[in-house]
Parts: sequence; C-alpha cells; structure tokens
Amino acid sequence: MGLRIALIPGDGIGAEVTAAAVRVADAALAPDGLRAEWTSFDWGTDHYLAHGRTIPEGGLDALRSFDAILLGAVGDPRVSDTITLSELVFTIRRTFDQYLNLRPARLWLGVPSPLKSSDTKNIDLLIVRENTEGEYANVGGRFHAGTPDETALQTNVFTRKGCERVIRAAFELARGRRKQLTSITKSNAQAFSMTLWDDVFRGVALKYSDVATESLLVDAAATELVRRPWRFDTIVASNLFGDILSDLSAAIVGGLGVTPSGNINPERTAPSMFEPVHGSAPDIAGKGIANPIASILSMAMLLDHVGQSAGARRIELAVGTTLAESRVQTPDLGGISTTEEMTSAVVAALAR
Ligand code: NAI
Ligand code: MG
Repeated sequence: MGLRIALIPGDGIGAEVTAAAVRVADAALAPDGLRAEWTSFDWGTDHYLAHGRTIPEGGLDALRSFDAILLGAVGDPRVSDTITLSELVFTIRRTFDQYLNLRPARLWLGVPSPLKSSDTKNIDLLIVRENTEGEYANVGGRFHAGTPDETALQTNVFTRKGCERVIRAAFELARGRRKQLTSITKSNAQAFSMTLWDDVFRGVALKYSDVATESLLVDAAATELVRRPWRFDTIVASNLFGDILSDLSAAIVGGLGVTPSGNINPERTAPSMFEPVHGSAPDIAGKGIANPIASILSMAMLLDHVGQSAGARRIELAVGTTLAESRVQTPDLGGISTTEEMTSAVVAALAR
C-alpha cells in the first residue's frame, strides 16, 4: 500500500517550506519506486477569517486515516495566537495523543554556530519534550477581570502516567544514540510537580542500567547548553522547559532555519505530526527566502516514522552535502539564495 500523507501548510512561510519538503520527498522516494499520496488541507488563519474556525467541523476525523501529517506553521498578526495555535497545533497534539515531541539539534558542517567554541566540537543532541500536559495543560482562569483585584491562575498538571511514558520513551531513544540521558526540572522551586517527575525518572532509570543518567535544574542546563552543548546526548524535559531549551539548542546549531521536529504518538493509535521548530515568520513570508531545510528534515523524520528509512537517510545525506558545500545558502545562513534555489540544490544532491 502507498503512503498517504496529510499536509497542513498553514500560514506565512508554512506553504513555502512545505512545498519544498514535498518536492524533496518525491525525489527521495523515487529510487525505491515509491510515490506518496499528498492531501493538502487549507486550515489556518485564512480559514478562520472566512469560517470562524481554523479547522472545519469533523476536520480532525478526516486526518485520522493518514499515515502521518506534515505541518508548515500557523500564526498570523491578524488573529490572536491564542486562537490559531491552540485551535490547530495544540488541539492536534492533544487529540492525537502525540505526547512525545522530538527536537533534534545537530550542528551541520557548513552551518555557522554563534558559539566560538563549537569550531572543533560536534553538537548532536536530542530534546525529548513532554507534549500534552505539564505547564501547557491549559487549566486555570482569570477573575475580577479589569479590576484592581484581577487575578489569574494557571495550573501545571503532572501525572505519574504522563511523566512515565515520556521518560520511558526518552530512555529508549537514548539507547539508540550515545546512551546518555539528562532529565531537566526545577524541583527546588516546583516542589510538588517536578519532584514527582524526578521520582518517576529515578524509577524508570532502574530498568535502563545501560544508559548513563543525570538530573539538572533548568537554569544550570541553560548555562551548560551554551558553555558545553556537546556534552549532551538525549535530554528529557517538561512541556515548557522542553519548548524553551529547544529554541536555545536551535540557536546554537545555526538557527530555526535548520531545526526539525516531530510530535509522536508512539503507540500509533493516531497519526504523528512533523513540523519545523520555527513559526510562520510573517517578517519574511511571501519573499521566497525562507530556509526550507527545517521542513525538509522534518520530512525525513516523517519518512523514518512511516518505515521509509532509506528515503530518510537519502534526504539527510543530500542536506548534509548541500550545507557542507555552502554554495547555496539562504539569508538566515548568511547567503543570498532563495527557497527555490536551496530546494533545487538538495534535489540535485539527491540525484548524485
Ligand atoms: P518564527 O519562528 O516565525 O520567526 C522567528 C525569526 O526567525 C524571524 O525573524 C523569522 O524570519 C526567522 N525564521 C523563522 N523560520 C525561518 C526560516 N525557515 N528561514 C529563515 N528565517 C526563519 O517565530 P515568531 O516570529 O515568534 O512567530 C511568528 C508566528 O509563528 C507567531 O504567530 C507564532 O505564534 C507562530 N508560531 C507557530 C508555531 C507553530 O505553528 N508550531 C511555532 C512557533 C511560532
Ligand atoms: Mg517554541
């Protein structure tokens, strides 16, 4: 049976980088005689402005039958992010129980890092972020609105089950890498929720004696990610900390233009969703200069997930060659090339 992939290009540069990823995937699957079937959904801000919602009624059911989803990005200055992001991105992550958010950060040859010390070191780390509860559980309220007594409550939700499944998955992933797992919390100040996380981490670790472990407080971890990022292999963290630290990791390996991610439902009870870490970048949207690499690498993660590892390896190799040669570089990498030129360079590298 062929691959059936859903595309949600979304807003801003989302459509530009998604189209690039599809072009590269078609070229990467061809040597295996495979053709993916792409189905595009025009959800996002324009849909919201026309119909009052970012996803039509029944939209999520339509997504369920696909093997995987590739998302561009959503977010548009015309509509509040609390509507677009939460109606579309967060709803899909929660409804499809994509509790594992994988955010690899790897310093590719030819990509400049802002860290001087990175010259001789190899940065290659994987952030495993809890993706359905924690600080983003969306529990709370605001009352006495508009008065001097206005009060807001935002509650963190940490469950043993929720901690356990993401931590176990992180150990499994660490096993397939350099067998080193760092757990990041702030237990000295979050004495209930994050001590539960720490307890669960210690418990799960007993079953993975082949993996070296450490626990760091998030502020120390932020310092270490700048001072000595190469010391990290796999990192597991809560929703909020994982979100922030993965942007920091993206910055040290050359920015949002090159960092992919996956929202994974490991039990495969619903499709997983892959997307660049970056947003819709309204400042450069429509100019044709967005770096497509983050979306192309997200596509490689998608292909891995649906059992097309050969195609995924080909894409990574072609991206590696293109970046290392440094002949074609979008402005975020210091060059003057367009999205189209960068995509064509990757497709050409695939053909070699
Ligand atoms: P952003 O990631 O869209 O942009 C940050 C900066 O990085 C901008 O200067 C942008 O031009 C640059 N940039 C991002 N991707 C790039 C690429 N592929 N090539 C070259 N440069 C790139 O973050 P920002 O500006 O904070 O958010 C813009 C909108 O995107 C907001 O509405 C935000 O809520 C939304 N957003 C959506 C996400 C999603 O759909 N999952 C994730 C993050 C933000
Ligand atoms: Mg983020």
